[in-house]
Amino acid sequence: MERHLPPATVRPSRLHEAMRYSIFCGGKRIRPILCLAAAEAAGGSDGTAMLPAVALEFLHTYTLIHDDLPAMDNDDLRRGKPTSHKVYGEANAILAGDSLLTLAFELLAQAKESGRLALELAAAAGSRGVVGGQFEDLVSEGLQPDAAQVQFIHIHKTAKLIQAACRMGAIAAGAGGPAIDALGRYGLNVGLAFQVADDILNATSSPEALGKAVGSDAARGKMTYVALYGIERARREADKLVADAIAALQGLPGPVEPLAAIARFIVERKS
Ligand code: IPE
Ligand code: IPE
Ligand code: MG
Ligand code: MG
Repeated sequence: MERHLPPATVRPSRLHEAMRYSIFCGGKRIRPILCLAAAEAAGGSDGTAMLPAVALEFLHTYTLIHDDLPAMDNDDLRRGKPTSHKVYGEANAILAGDSLLTLAFELLAQAKESGRLALELAAAAGSRGVVGGQFEDLVSEGLQPDAAQVQFIHIHKTAKLIQAACRMGAIAAGAGGPAIDALGRYGLNVGLAFQVADDILNATSSPEALGKAVGSDAARGKMTYVALYGIERARREADKLVADAIAALQGLPGPVEPLAAIARFIVERKS
């Protein structure tokens, strides 16, 4: 990521500084790690999926910067640090996000299988993916929780990008259709479990442990798994999704234990 970001000495310095700030202030790197682990599970060698992995983290970080803006979730803390717009101002935060989104596709354009990788990422990120999920998340604030609507929001705002991370790893590794689809099924289940866990942590954790605000979903009337089912049932739902994810890993040519461990981590995580 260091190599692929313009140095802060290059004009516009403040913009490049803002891009670097949000990338390097923390973050679990779960999407790039999934992409690399999926490539290995599909029989690829170490590092074959590095460009798509970096592109995924750049794109994900753009979604976080924009998600925190006053017009969206209006959050002050992210990755344990003040949010981009708190440090650089709203206009610069919007532009830093725009630049990370664009840079992600600049990297994919240089990868082998660039066309297929760009198609996966674009479909998962746009109005039929993350942006569409963010739209529905915002219009659902304050409404009565509804199972089908929560499912739509979670699949789109979170699970599709995590699914794309796994599929992109397989594509970069030169895998065939069945392996790409198996890793996609793993990714969709893991992605849903990831958002259920995020909802639970918002209701149960602390800002110190999480590096972002807690209690904000309830305060904003967000339509979450916790609002719909309560914490206990949400936990059971997440466990079931993890079991389904792990079941999808059967028959892949490479090592799958890292992916199974990541799936378990996703529901056990404290941040
Ligand atoms: C936060 O994602 C946004 C969601 C989709 C829940 P992460 O929990 O992966 O955030 P970082 O990258 O570790 O900060
Ligand atoms: C996560 O939305 C999805 C994106 C950022 C695209 P949330 O609003 O639920 O995530 P946090 O809790 O702010 O990380
Ligand atoms: Mg949000
Ligand atoms: Mg948010």
